[in-house]
Amino acid sequence: MRPFALLLPLLFACGPSSSVDEGLGVIQELDTSEQGITAFVQSGQYRSWLAEPSVHETRAPHGSKVRVFFNDVVAQSLRDGNATHPVGSILVKELFEDDGKTVRGHALDVKIAPGSGKDTWIFYEGFGPSYSDNYYGRAHATCHGCHSDGKDYVTSPLP
Ligand code: HEC
Repeated sequence: MRPFALLLPLLFACGPSSSVDEGLGVIQELDTSEQGITAFVQSGQYRSWLAEPSVHETRAPHGSKVRVFFNDVVAQSLRDGNATHPVGSILVKELFEDDGKTVRGHALDVKIAPGSGKDTWIFYEGFGPSYSDNYYGRAHATCHGCHSDGKDYVTSPLP
């Protein structure tokens, strides 16, 4: 790691080719550093999770087609109708090209602290093939606004 990379979390940056780490380590088998999340989404491990039945048009203004995956922790919590989700809740959104088949990137939210509020989530979004210019951060300013419309920042209903 280049020395200046250590300063980036303090600046709360999501800059190009930085590798940022909120310093929270492994949560629910996910390395929550930017690098760790990139490796995780590229590995496709989440594909065994509960998934929406098919790719669909996004309800968000940008991007086209998406499919959301829920890990066991958040799936159970959504079933229980909890107001806030437990630490270790993870959701992945596959982002597709217009063809609805080619994955162009991933978004991932992971709950990293109990209770409510944007500080209890790390938000990540990156695009292939390099995943070198990602959104990454606890309470990321680009992400929490829309997601505050959901229940504890989760906007997709359980499939
Ligand atoms: C303009 C509003 C908007 C912004 C900004 C936004 N999202 Fe979302 N997000 C949505 C909507 C709507 C969905 C539901 C799925 C869909 O229709 O795409 C969603 C779904 C998701 C999901 C699947 C879980 C869920 O809550 O439904 C993840 C993960 C996610 N977004 C991550 C992010 C990240 C990371 C950012 C910041 C880089 C971000 N989002 C910014 C609107 C937004």
